[in-house]
Amino acid sequence: MLTIALCKGKLIEPTLELFAQAGYQTNQLSMDSRRLVFSCPDLGLTFLIVRPTDVPTYVEYGSADVGIVGKDVLLEQDSDVYEPLDLGFGACRIAVAALRGQASRDRLSSKIRVATKYPKITERYFNQRGVPVEIIKLYGSIELAPIVGLADRIVDLVETGNTLKAHDLVEVELIAHSTARLIVNRASLKLKHAAITELIRKLRVAGQASKRRSRTAARKRAARSGRKGKRTNP
Ligand code: PRP
Repeated sequence: MLTIALCKGKLIEPTLELFAQAGYQTNQLSMDSRRLVFSCPDLGLTFLIVRPTDVPTYVEYGSADVGIVGKDVLLEQDSDVYEPLDLGFGACRIAVAALRGQASRDRLSSKIRVATKYPKITERYFNQRGVPVEIIKLYGSIELAPIVGLADRIVDLVETGNTLKAHDLVEVELIAHSTARLIVNRASLKLKHAAITELIRKLRVAGQASKRRSRTAARKRAARSGRKGKRTNP
């Protein structure tokens, strides 16, 4: 039996989809219920539903053998786990953003205040550039900080860019790209080697097939819009 830590939030849906494509039908997992443990004996899997930032902890301490979590969380936490598979979905970036019109403020003249839920990533990034910063740790709704004068900059996840746009913020620097990763407890990889490598293999194959399908669909869409364009603009 393998125990897998899944995170609540944006990654749960594509994660369950990938598991289904890999042959693990997890219909009994319901995010609407308050249940945190779902045992699927027929699949040889038990799922734990935890907060994204807690996934590496469950895996590092061996309470879960495997976890699925964003690279952003891994970069922030530096946990001692294996990271054998980039699942590709949940793509976003960690970026520095500022209020429109204030993006080119002279950053070196004084300590700038940066609000973020990623204090370590932020500190590393600005330290490497020799820019002195005061980091203000927040737990969410980061975009609010520059609007109310709490910070000069934010470091946050950007996916579509809609949240930044809605708050008149612009991306000024890219720190890193992030996608969902499969992580594995170091001892589990030795003790449950066959089961874990089989799980990784199936998820990898399902992921590749789904990437191929998306590429084909994108090509078809592009071809269709090309044909339409030709018809309207001969
Ligand atoms: C994340 C992130 C941004 C938003 C970016 O927030 O912190 O606020 O998504 O997405 P977009 O570029 O597609 O607009 P989340 O929804 O996780 O909530 P939070 O602000 O409470 O952290």
